[in-house]
Amino acid sequence: MPKVESKYSLPPHPLLNDYYRDETERKKMVKQLFDSTASHYDWINKVMSFGTGERYRYEALERAGLGVGQSVLDIGCGTGVLARHEMELVGPDGTVLGVDPSFGMLQQAQGRGVEWVTMGRGECLPLQDQQFDFISMGYALRHVVDLGEAFTEYYRVLKPGGTVLLLEISPPASRIGYQLIKFYMKYLIPLITRLGVRDKNAQLLMSYYWDTIEQCVPPQMILEALEAAGFEKVKRNVQFGVFSEYTASRPA
Ligand SMILES: C[S@@+](CC[C@H](N)C(=O)[O-])C[C@H]1O[C@@H](n2cnc3c(N)ncnc32)[C@H](O)[C@@H]1O
Repeated sequence: MPKVESKYSLPPHPLLNDYYRDETERKKMVKQLFDSTASHYDWINKVMSFGTGERYRYEALERAGLGVGQSVLDIGCGTGVLARHEMELVGPDGTVLGVDPSFGMLQQAQGRGVEWVTMGRGECLPLQDQQFDFISMGYALRHVVDLGEAFTEYYRVLKPGGTVLLLEISPPASRIGYQLIKFYMKYLIPLITRLGVRDKNAQLLMSYYWDTIEQCVPPQMILEALEAAGFEKVKRNVQFGVFSEYTASRPA
């Protein structure tokens, strides 16, 4: 595919040596972890968000302006939570394609009714230039190899005037808020997951989830990486102190 080289390099977090030794191992581990836990993902997501995760995603898509008839690419689509909502919002005249490197996740997405899915990574999309009006990525930007590369790819496959929406969890700035969310996500959620689904990999997934959030580059650097890739109207909207919604447009 006609991939454009990025001049801006920004790994989303440093290598986490408690889990892997190098980039090759990281990629392999992340893929295996999501593959093996795909059937538990929706349960974990529901418990972790007190049942509000689905509604929140729908509202975030509305806030970003997704509308009828648009062509959408959902990158890191996982079990298809966002993609399914996108199908509702774009209606029968729109299209939604889900991309994910995990076969297990894509199977779950298809089971949820996402009609079009393909295997791929955000940093190397198996897609032609300027095909989409809207790109979304929900809670997956920590898993790309490099944000500069990924955002250059998003820019390439978006039509001029198209929108990108990135959803991510960002630890709150206040000390007490930070400690509370750390306790919840680092200790409580992995334990609840272990007890709820009785799967060590699912517990590991949720420990890794927090560690990547804690080590992720700060929001300002994500905004700068979007600008460096050529996007304009780059913004971050924060909901409930922790849910970051990054939006940006490819100039018309
Ligand atoms: C936490 S799940 C998020 C799923 C879904 N977007 C949601 O909102 O719940 C992260 C997803 O990112 C995928 N992923 C991992 N590495 C990726 C990459 N390099 N590019 C795109 N997606 C990736 C995983 O396979 C997994 O399905």
